[in-house]
Amino acid sequence: MKRYYIGLSVSTHDPALAIVDQDGETLFAEATERFLQYKRAPNCEPDNERLVSLLRRHCDQKAQFIVAVNWRRFTARFSRLLSQVGLTSAKAIFKSRSPDVKFNTPYSLRTKITNAYAASMYERLGVGFSYAMKLAFPESRYSIRYYAHHLCHAALACYSSPFSEASCMIVDGAGDFGSFAYYRYQSGAIQAIREQKGFASLGRFYADMTWLCGFNPDKGEEWKVMGFAPYGSLDQKAYELLKSLFVFKGSEIRGISSRAYQNILKQLQERLAANTLESRNLAFTAQQVFSETLIEAIRTFHRTCPSDNLAMAGGCLLNSSAAGLIEEQTPFKRLFVPSAPADDGTALGAALLALHRDHPRRHPDKRNGSPYLGSEISKKKLERVVQVSNTPNLRHFPGTIHIETAKLLSDGKLVGWVQGRAEFGPRSLGNRSILADPRPATMKDKINARVKFREEFRPFAPSILYEFGPEYFENYQESPYMERTLRFREQVWTKVPAVVHVNGTGRLQTVKPEYNEKFYALIRAFYELTGIPILLNTSFNVMGKPIIHSIEDAMSVFYSSGLDVLVIHDFLIRK
Ligand SMILES: [Fe+2]
Repeated sequence: MKRYYIGLSVSTHDPALAIVDQDGETLFAEATERFLQYKRAPNCEPDNERLVSLLRRHCDQKAQFIVAVNWRRFTARFSRLLSQVGLTSAKAIFKSRSPDVKFNTPYSLRTKITNAYAASMYERLGVGFSYAMKLAFPESRYSIRYYAHHLCHAALACYSSPFSEASCMIVDGAGDFGSFAYYRYQSGAIQAIREQKGFASLGRFYADMTWLCGFNPDKGEEWKVMGFAPYGSLDQKAYELLKSLFVFKGSEIRGISSRAYQNILKQLQERLAANTLESRNLAFTAQQVFSETLIEAIRTFHRTCPSDNLAMAGGCLLNSSAAGLIEEQTPFKRLFVPSAPADDGTALGAALLALHRDHPRRHPDKRNGSPYLGSEISKKKLERVVQVSNTPNLRHFPGTIHIETAKLLSDGKLVGWVQGRAEFGPRSLGNRSILADPRPATMKDKINARVKFREEFRPFAPSILYEFGPEYFENYQESPYMERTLRFREQVWTKVPAVVHVNGTGRLQTVKPEYNEKFYALIRAFYELTGIPILLNTSFNVMGKPIIHSIEDAMSVFYSSGLDVLVIHDFLIRK
C-alpha cells in the first residue's frame, strides 16, 4: 500500500494543504486562499471542500495517509477544548485574555477573536477530514502527527534549499513558544538549537506598525508599509522608542513587558493623531528598526552557530527589503528563503517532516525547490470555455506564444499571463502574472489606474534574465522567488523606470530556464526585440483579492479591467 504525506497548515491565517509521496516528490502545495478567492482565508480550514478531488487526482485509491499538522502545542490546546466545543469555550478564551490590557491595537483585538474562532475551525476540519476519508477512501488508513510550528518552517527552508549543511533561523509573529527559533541542518537532519520564549516578536511588531500606519495586516498589507517606507524619513523620537522594544542579552532577544509595549504604541498613536508624526515617517522608521533588529539577531546567531549558509523562513522573511541586506551585512555568505516562507509553507514543511521521520536517510528531493506546485488550468477546461463563450480575437500559437506575446509587450500592451501550475507562496513568478514593458515611466500609473486599482506608492517588481543580474543590480544576489530587494545600478534607472522604486531599489525575480522555461523564453524574446532583459511582473489579481485560481477568475479580471491581452497556455485573446 502506497504511503502519502498530507501536510496541513491550520494556522488562523494562511491555511494550506500539501501532498508529498513516499518517494519525496511534492505532488501538490497550495494556500487555501486561492481556491476560496478569499485573501489569506482567515479562520478557514484547509481545503475541506476539495480534499476528496485533490486526493483522487494525486493519490492511489487504496493508500495509507499520514496527516502532518503544523502546530503542536497550540493545536493540542484547542484539541482539548474540542471536548467541550462551542461558543462557551470561544467566549472563555476571549474573556481570559481580555483583562489587564489598557491599549489594544485593532490587530491585537483581532488576534483574540481569531483565536477564539479557531476552535470551531479545528472542529470543522476534523469532521470534514474524517468524512472525506471514510466516504471516498474507505479502504485506506490514516494517522495524524503534530509538529512544532517553527520546526515546520525550518523543514521547508532546509529541505528545499540547495544546501547540504546550514544554520537555520525562523522569524515570525509567534510559534508554539516565541517568535524566534534556531536550528542546525546537516546531512538531512534538523537539530533544534533554541526556541526563543517570551514577548519579543518582529512579526507582531510589524503588524502593529501596519495598523498604526493605516493599513490592515489581516489582509497582508505589511507590503504597503514596506512600499511606503522609502517615501518617509527617520523620526528620531519614534526610532528611540521602537528600538527599546528589543533588548539583546547574550544570544537572547528579550522583549519588554506587554504593558510597556502597549504604552509605546499608545504614544505613537497619539503623535499620529496630533500630526506630530507622519505615517510615512513611521513606516520608514519601523522598517529601519525591523531591519536593524533582524540583522543583529542573525549576526548573534552566527556567533553561536557559524556556517557560510543560512536557511530562513517565517512570515518576517516576506520583508524583502530586510532580506536583501542579509548577505551584505552578516557573516553568512549565502541565504536561502523558500517561495512560501509564511504559514502556508508550513503545510509542506510538516509533510516533509513526516516523510523524513519514516525515511531519515533519504536525501532531500531537490525538486522541493520548485515554486510551481499549485493548481493547473486544464487544457480541456480552457477549450470548453473558449468554445462556449465564442471568444472573438482568440488565436492559438503552439510553440511561438512567447514570441507573439513579447511583440505585444514591446508595443506597450498589458498582458495577463497564465501558464502551468500556480506558484506556492504569495508572489507571482511567471505562471500567474500580469506583465508589462518596464521602459515607459508612465507604465506604473497605467497599470495602477487600469488594472490593479491600488496605491501609487507601491512598486512593481522586475523579472530579469539571471545572467543580466550583475549588469543591473549592485551587490547582485540570485532571487528566484522575489524574496529580496536590491539596489539598481544608477546608470540603468532611466532604462527601466517602471520597476525602479523611489529609493532606487527593485524586488527582483531572477529567472533561469531550469526554473521556468516558458517564462525565460518570453523575457529572452522581449530582450531580443528591445535590448532590455527585464519584464515588469505583478501578481494576476485586483487589489484586495488573491491571485487568480480558475479560468473563470482569469477571464473575469481580463474583461473587467484594462488588460489588453490574456494568454493562457498557447492561446492568446486580445480585447
Ligand atoms: Fe509561522
